[in-house]
Amino acid sequence: MTPFDFTPLLSKGLPPPAPKWTGFAEYNFSGGHNDADCVPVDALIAASSAVLRREGRALATYGLESGPLGYRRLRAFLAAKLKQHAGISCDADEILITSGSLQAIELVNGLLLSAGDTVVIEQETYAGALTRLARRGINAVGIPLDREGLRVDALASTLDDLKLRNIRAKYIYTIPTVQNPTGAIMGEARRQDLLRLAHAHGIPIFEDECYSDLVWEGSRPPALYALSKSESVIHIGSFSKSVAPALRVGYIVAPWNLLSRMLALKTDAGSGALEQMILAEFCEGHFAQHVPRLTKGLHAKLQTMMDALAEQFGTAAEFETPKGGIFLWVKLPDQVDTVQLAQAALAAGIALNPGPEWVTDKSYGKSRLRLCFANPSHEAIRAGVATLAEVCRREFGVPARIANVEQRAAG
Ligand SMILES: Cc1ncc(COP(=O)(O)O)c(C=O)c1O
Repeated sequence: MTPFDFTPLLSKGLPPPAPKWTGFAEYNFSGGHNDADCVPVDALIAASSAVLRREGRALATYGLESGPLGYRRLRAFLAAKLKQHAGISCDADEILITSGSLQAIELVNGLLLSAGDTVVIEQETYAGALTRLARRGINAVGIPLDREGLRVDALASTLDDLKLRNIRAKYIYTIPTVQNPTGAIMGEARRQDLLRLAHAHGIPIFEDECYSDLVWEGSRPPALYALSKSESVIHIGSFSKSVAPALRVGYIVAPWNLLSRMLALKTDAGSGALEQMILAEFCEGHFAQHVPRLTKGLHAKLQTMMDALAEQFGTAAEFETPKGGIFLWVKLPDQVDTVQLAQAALAAGIALNPGPEWVTDKSYGKSRLRLCFANPSHEAIRAGVATLAEVCRREFGVPARIANVEQRAAG
């Protein structure tokens, strides 16, 4: 029988169909995957049996007898952690557990955005945030970054310019602590400047702190949410990078008047309960010891990635050393088109993220690329970067063989 044709029935404005998954590339430098050796498998098994034995009967109810905001013990853990690490004073009832922080982004966007609105966003930023804005028909205005992240001077002129055109941006989206993709951390003074400027223009800040646990050295600055005096910040975070992305657990911190509106938009009858229970049990006993172990492993992989790039590309690959996280943001010479490079690299078993997907101005991203160093082993990083250099040399003449030899001789 011929299969039923759904095509004429499809709703209007659907995104293009998703490609079929064909497995990971041999050298997987794409996406935000974590280090498999650092998944705390034994502690998660122990947490899972302990919490299920004790509270498994609560699975009989939607929301685990904790209500629609999510498992209360996980929210209580987060409230204490946010106080200790980010300076945020909030009650467990000002935290909404979401299915990954991607759902948090969707809920914030659903709360504030209508087609045709303008938002201000870092010029180099999370592709997932950009695609979700594009899908809603939002005008995303990019602000350049420096080593401390979002440049407040550039933001000031953009906001003045928007004001002249009678446009009030709906929010300023920033990833202030371990920026994606640059790895920058915004210092406290700049955070204060940003808050002052946003306040003067009457624009809220949307703070995305996906990577803030993965800082190499010292303590992170207080969150913008903690520093704001006017409750004008919405804060989101995730367990994807600090524990495991497959768990799909993120959260939103916001005053109840906003949280209650976002809760009304969250129509999935609650995020998965097992992962919330297991995380709460795991985090109470192990989070504090787990994170330094993870960051130590990630930092070592970053070093391997930077060494491999220096060896294989010489001076052709430019990058700042990120202050934490899982990504290296690389600039190649202007003649390299990283969209084409990504295609050629994939044919050679290497997955990477081409720059144009991570920027508001596609031409700025043309010769840039993002490499995730968390998931591949040290050997795979070395072999993958060597193969990438071969592909890049074949396609674009970069790196020139001679530069490579000179680099080796000098080093
Ligand atoms: C800045 C940023 N925000 C949000 C997310 C979404 O992460 P998740 O939905 O896994 O929490 C990511 C994922 O890479 C990210 O980089």
